[in-house]
Amino acid sequence: MSKEFDVVVIGAGPGGYVAAIRAAQLGFKTACIDEWKNEKGGPAPGGTCTNVGCIPSKALLQSSENYEHAGHAFADHGIEVKGLSIDIKKMIARKDNVVKQNNDGILYLFKKNKVTFFHGRGSFEKAEGGVYSVKVAGAAEETITGKHVIVATGSNPRALPGAAFDEKLILSNTGALEIDAVPKKLGVIGAGVIGLEMGSVWRRVGAEVTVLEAMPTFLGAVDEQIAKEAQKLLAKQGLNINLGVKIGAITAGKKDVTVEYTDASGKEHKDVFDKLIVSIGRVPNTNGLNAEAVGLKLDERGFIAVDGDCKTSQPNVWAVGDVVRGPMLAHKAEEEGVAVAERIAGQHGHVNFNTIPWVIYTSPEIAWVGKTEQQLKAEGVPYKAGTFPFMANGRARALGDTSGMVKFLADAKTDEILGVHMVGPMVSELISEAVVAMEFRASSEDIARICHAHPSLSESTKEAALAVDKRSLNF
Ligand code: FAD
Ligand code: NAI
Repeated sequence: MSKEFDVVVIGAGPGGYVAAIRAAQLGFKTACIDEWKNEKGGPAPGGTCTNVGCIPSKALLQSSENYEHAGHAFADHGIEVKGLSIDIKKMIARKDNVVKQNNDGILYLFKKNKVTFFHGRGSFEKAEGGVYSVKVAGAAEETITGKHVIVATGSNPRALPGAAFDEKLILSNTGALEIDAVPKKLGVIGAGVIGLEMGSVWRRVGAEVTVLEAMPTFLGAVDEQIAKEAQKLLAKQGLNINLGVKIGAITAGKKDVTVEYTDASGKEHKDVFDKLIVSIGRVPNTNGLNAEAVGLKLDERGFIAVDGDCKTSQPNVWAVGDVVRGPMLAHKAEEEGVAVAERIAGQHGHVNFNTIPWVIYTSPEIAWVGKTEQQLKAEGVPYKAGTFPFMANGRARALGDTSGMVKFLADAKTDEILGVHMVGPMVSELISEAVVAMEFRASSEDIARICHAHPSLSESTKEAALAVDKRSLNF
């Protein structure tokens, strides 16, 4: 097998594996290197997203939500459940199986698209004559070459100083997805996306969950009205969220972890938890890449420095996903991967950062795209707002989940949609309509004039658009 490639991709997370597939589709001889191992030591492509991120967290969110519904919501439907219990080991095994299906799916896609996969660590050796040599250290060691290299090495969880992850008591996302018995008391440091999603999973199956957040405001990046509503709903479910805390010493004992902290009022606490999840953000991963060998520049925060087109400091070396600036989201990584492959082919791949949606998969879900009301105010952009509560939506009533709302923000003069914000049932799906609308630079009137199926949750989107012009029909 020839080891000379047109495109070598390092990392097979959503950024890397999608870039490799697109490059192969465009006719390039493509290799993709990834070092992730499954429990048998075999390849497990898919990166953080597939192995310890998006996919396993959503599997556990679904299992725990089913359990919660059976225990609480079913009774309203006249369904009586006796002797309800949950087998956590089985829940985790199901999650592992979902992960494996995704790993296998990617290996199949590599074959189908004729991407050559290498299992091992990829590191730069040298650049010579416009060609990059990349060492692959796996079961054996070999060197391959590429005219273009796409770095997609992702990110790692950030630890608190003095509290290294042991994944038994002090857990990153990896350990948080592997807990095999419900902890009586679970501590979570960081009320961000991971803290809220994983806190929800373990609360639903019976843990007493305390979330400790440094910032004085809840979900500061989310539209304030939506964040307030979400905070109220999550607190009502029993998530104990403490804002404005200052974390002190963290001491792991034999069976528990003690966290000292000062709350927003200045009162000192010393709480003992059976497990502690630390979810305070992630850091770019350039470990073992040997970026120096080819003079690849990092920025001051350790990300690979790239321009708007994902070009690095070196010719024909590109970088995408969590290892570069921008939101750490799987779909952002994928879009960048596709755009880079297309640019290598001389096309005009483009990523619109203004229309990247965000979703937090709590229940109710939180989703948004575009500007928040506080951003528009700060930027001095005149806007009109329209909201519609799910309480007034027939499908939501039939579902038995009427929490939350849809909110539209449109330009006061042109009516162009500037942001759409949602908290409520299945808004992870509803947000796509807003993304499409914004991508096509639609006005709120465009959405208001489109026929939406009845009864559906998406009618709330139409109604919120109507509300921008103060002409809701059902509220
Ligand atoms: P990664 O997915 O991190 O993949 C990088 C890959 O490169 C890994 O397989 C790694 O082993 C490999 N690698 C690194 N260095 C080398 C090397 N030198 N040689 C060979 N291989 C190497 N995002 C969403 O959009 N939606 C979600 O619901 C969501 N949920 C999440 C839940 C959790 C708990 C976490 C932690 C993250 C979640 N994310 C979610 C974020 C998402 O996982 C990341 O944004 C995404 O995985 C980034 O993709 P990537 O390809 O840049 O990197
Ligand atoms: P995050 O950035 O979402 O949240 C971290 C939180 O920790 C913030 O609220 C921050 O103020 C707080 N914090 C930071 N330092 C602290 C300290 N010392 N003490 C107390 N609180 C502190 O990061 P998180 O949750 O770790 O997730 C990382 C990233 O992974 C997310 O930003 C997101 O990009 C991605 N992700 C996406 C998901 C999705 O799309 N549904 C799900 C999970 C993760």
